[in-house]
Amino acid sequence: MIKESVTVLGAGSMGSALAGAFLAAGYRTHVWNRTHARTAPLLRAGATAHPDIADAIAASRCTSC
Ligand SMILES: NC(=O)c1ccc[n+]([C@@H]2O[C@H](COP(=O)([O-])OP(=O)(O)OC[C@H]3O[C@@H](n4cnc5c(N)ncnc54)[C@H](OP(=O)(O)O)[C@@H]3O)[C@@H](O)[C@H]2O)c1
Repeated sequence: MIKESVTVLGAGSMGSALAGAFLAAGYRTHVWNRTHARTAPLLRAGATAHPDIADAIAASRCTSC
């Protein structure tokens, strides 16, 4: 079952591990990293990688609050 969207800012070691865990748990996962190319492995794993940080944040904005 697809769960809510989450956004992870930063795709270094910690951000990539967190984003990978969200993907594995079935969340629609959006990622942004200052160096956009570094999001490539997460993109291949099923995340949506945003070049623009505002777009990444808006992608998982709460729609009920
Ligand atoms: N790794 C661990 O096991 C661990 C454990 C506990 C705590 N932490 C803490 O978690 C944090 C991240 O650690 P990490 O291991 O993920 O480090 P990392 O692999 O070196 O990643 C650093 C991340 O921060 C980004 N970054 C650095 N300076 C930035 C700036 N000025 N503006 C925007 N983004 C910037 C980097 O983006 P770029 O790719 O563009 O450089 C990258 O996404 C650190 O504070 C670390 O002390 C890490």
